[in-house]
Amino acid sequence: MARSRSASPRWTLFLSLTILLCCFIVPGISVKHENFKKCAQSGFCKRNRAYADEVTARGSSWTAPYELDSASIQFQDGQLQGTIIKMTASNEKVRLPLTVSFLESGAARVVVDEEKRVKGEIELRHGSKARKERYNEAGKWVLVGGLELSKSASLNPETETGFTKVLYGPEKKFQAIIRHAPFEVQFQRDGETHVKLNDRGYLNVEHWRAKVNDESSEPKDDQSTWWEETFGGNTDSKPRGPESVGLDISFPGYGHVFGIPEHADSLSLKETRGGSGNHEEPYRMHNSDVFEYELNSPMTLYGSIPFMQAHRKDSTVGVFWLNAAETWVDIVKFKPSVNPLALGVSPKTTTQTHWFSESGQLDVFVFLGPTPEDLSRTYGELTGYTQLPQHFAIAYHQCRWNYVTDDDVKDVDRKFDKYQIPYDVIWLDIEYTDGKKYFTWDPLTFPDPKGMQEQLDDSERKLVIIIDPHIKNEANYPVVEELKSKDLAVKNKDGNIYEGWCWPGSSHWVDCFNPASISWWTGLFKYDKFKGTLPNMFIWNDMNEPSVFNGPETTMPKDNLHYGNWEHRDIHNVNGLTLVNATYNAMLERKKGEIRRPFILTRSFYAGAQRISAMWTGDNQANWDHLAASLPMVLNNGIAGFPFAGADVGGFFGNPSKELLTRWYQTGIFYPFFRAHAHIDTRRREPYLAGEPYMSIITQAIRLRYQLLPAWYTAFHQASVNGTPIVRPQYYVHPSDELGFAIDDQFYLGSTGLLAKPVVTEGATSVDIYIADDEKYYDYFDYTVYQGAGNRHTVPAPLEKVPLLMQGGHIIPRKDRPRRSSGLMKWDPYTLVVVLDKNGQAEGTLYVDDGETFDYQHGAYIHRRFSFSDSSLSSEDIGRKGPKTVDYVKTMADVRVEKVVVVDAPKEWQEKSSVTVIEDGAEAGATAPLEYHVQQGGKAPYAVVKNPNVGIGKVWRIEF
Ligand code: NOJ
Repeated sequence: MARSRSASPRWTLFLSLTILLCCFIVPGISVKHENFKKCAQSGFCKRNRAYADEVTARGSSWTAPYELDSASIQFQDGQLQGTIIKMTASNEKVRLPLTVSFLESGAARVVVDEEKRVKGEIELRHGSKARKERYNEAGKWVLVGGLELSKSASLNPETETGFTKVLYGPEKKFQAIIRHAPFEVQFQRDGETHVKLNDRGYLNVEHWRAKVNDESSEPKDDQSTWWEETFGGNTDSKPRGPESVGLDISFPGYGHVFGIPEHADSLSLKETRGGSGNHEEPYRMHNSDVFEYELNSPMTLYGSIPFMQAHRKDSTVGVFWLNAAETWVDIVKFKPSVNPLALGVSPKTTTQTHWFSESGQLDVFVFLGPTPEDLSRTYGELTGYTQLPQHFAIAYHQCRWNYVTDDDVKDVDRKFDKYQIPYDVIWLDIEYTDGKKYFTWDPLTFPDPKGMQEQLDDSERKLVIIIDPHIKNEANYPVVEELKSKDLAVKNKDGNIYEGWCWPGSSHWVDCFNPASISWWTGLFKYDKFKGTLPNMFIWNDMNEPSVFNGPETTMPKDNLHYGNWEHRDIHNVNGLTLVNATYNAMLERKKGEIRRPFILTRSFYAGAQRISAMWTGDNQANWDHLAASLPMVLNNGIAGFPFAGADVGGFFGNPSKELLTRWYQTGIFYPFFRAHAHIDTRRREPYLAGEPYMSIITQAIRLRYQLLPAWYTAFHQASVNGTPIVRPQYYVHPSDELGFAIDDQFYLGSTGLLAKPVVTEGATSVDIYIADDEKYYDYFDYTVYQGAGNRHTVPAPLEKVPLLMQGGHIIPRKDRPRRSSGLMKWDPYTLVVVLDKNGQAEGTLYVDDGETFDYQHGAYIHRRFSFSDSSLSSEDIGRKGPKTVDYVKTMADVRVEKVVVVDAPKEWQEKSSVTVIEDGAEAGATAPLEYHVQQGGKAPYAVVKNPNVGIGKVWRIEF
């Protein structure tokens, strides 16, 4: 929650106090723990942990109560079905239908439902109803493909009684071994077990029971949280009683697990059951507006992606826990003691995880890798790949809460030009509205929004404005009147429209689970409805956890009701995604025939949000620790399939020192989503206000981002077709190098070989960059050579320097001409930097399209592979053709390569003064001048070909 002004006296008092607090923000401010549940304060978390502890304590005397009825098992067309019988303490048999699907992609899916819940509704007070069955619609919002059942999966005839074995996956190298009693599944690859479900016996499906006369069911000792729970003065009525699902998932031999964002923590997740350096609490996923969030913490934040990768030397496997309810994950690592007979072979660490969600089905996907790329691809087939954004969206965004008038916006715009600092997008926070009523403009401060957007458009710049899901509850506001009259709002537990407090004061929330809400929301964005908006206006969806200032844990009561009579409890984590989904639809349909790729920034997210939005890490703080924390957070989001991620550059709360601001820009240029933002109470900090030398250094950093935009866009394109992260951590690029697995403060940009390690500490003058391989690495700016596998290398990093290396063997596309915006660079020529590897070779790719429309889906793009070997640099086409290819390539005919730089150019070239350039298969070549530069002091020599003048979309060869 963050603060502003508003109407009602009660509200004004509350806000004045919070603004007062905000004005005195000091470093070290921290979260109010008392506002958020610890595991022991969350009934189902406490119950599942206690259950696990009891199972462990009882050891072999414990008999797990879940048994797959052998007679019920059927296997057909890549799918196994059966019924798990849960034997309750009172000897009741609860029937739990099981479906295990073996997918064409090589993933497997295990779903456990509950028969008794499948039909019926529960009568609530005042005649309203809640669904009785377990929530089974998360997939509707999350899954977009990859569900084809395997045609080749088959039962393994070689099996023992009490087991069913299924061979599946590529060349049937995967096997699921299902033990019937107690129920357990082991997943094998090449005969070795990589993932185990219910190996520790923590499977727990809290079954449907009537409120009375069932008191003998387990857990016997504590039924206090079964039917009602109170926290922070809010009572959750829990009409369906206890209904959690829990399961242990182990990764034998795997020492690292990554993923399950969003947490402000290290990339390699920590253990959660205490001990030195470990957490005491499980990682929590319950999308929340956590005011002044703390670092190194498993506390929940704004978004959730329950996808985890487990990694060990040369193997990556993972799971995706598809459940939209509040979820917690415990992690412990277990290292067997050294066996003296093992002759120095040290035992491998095993990571054991325990997942539990408050309601819904048990629905878990298992991925067997073996590479991190396999995981990204297969998970992405299910939940979708990241959207290919409009080109402007990957450039620099200038935001603050708030640019106060349309003149202010125009003035900032002019100042960027005056100081020759590139930027693409300026943002408006909530104050642009008329009294926090979305879809309106404040008539006094923004009298001419169109004029403002037109000025921006003159230099191809864009405007992003905020639209939140809370709708002000005020008379004569047509939006709220329609929301009510069309019955499109979220309801409270009594079936009446839910009222809570957010920026506007009293508000209602649009229920985007309702298809009618999506249509209505879509209508609100049409140009004739949302007056004053132009095509260069895009959207920021904030507060969509949803944030409710007076709600339990700053969000909605769990017993609120959504479309289809689902409780908020069931859908909470996917709620934010449904708003973005509606906004995305709206942005597609603003005007018939005018279809542009939408750009939406969301704060809350769930798996799948990558298809339609970018995210940022919310309200961070202007201090060095938050700067450092932004890196693992952004990297982790990429691992979890949502790589279009960034953090507020400069820090949201507080005023950064000039050094911190400068270092933050030098870091922010490596966030896939690069936006500066600041709280309303902070001092203005547009880069041109920083004074020298800071302003020039920040300008150079932003220009570096712009210079590398071709490489960034190519990395975004890769992410959009195979799910690979845009910035990649060490383990992802070097999966064999164990020393690098826990490193999360340096990273590679796509597959360009660019390795960055931003400075995140005060007063630093150098950084130590870890190099995993024995390739040569070159300083980006002066080509100093660093080489030596498995070592850290000290790279100078005075304030004006961004520590950035180029790994040998890559060709990096750039655009070197500084411009006011990326839109104005569209027709600029390219520079290719050829960074030779130790064998004198290099390779790279470039993807280009119009950066705006969906024509690329019909072939309107250029996709090239550049290769250097045997003294020849060539460009070949690697794109598939479509109906729009020829026309697009024609529009790019004049876009040429203006420079080729060869780093570590062979000494023999010193004698040369020109190269031969052969374009489009011509027989005779033209010549272009070659300059050779010898360097001293550990710097590699380089050669420059000036103006080879080859077309970026053409086939060509340069002979050296
Ligand atoms: C909370 C967001 O996290 C922050 O970025 C924004 O400035 C405020 N809401 C006001 O809209």
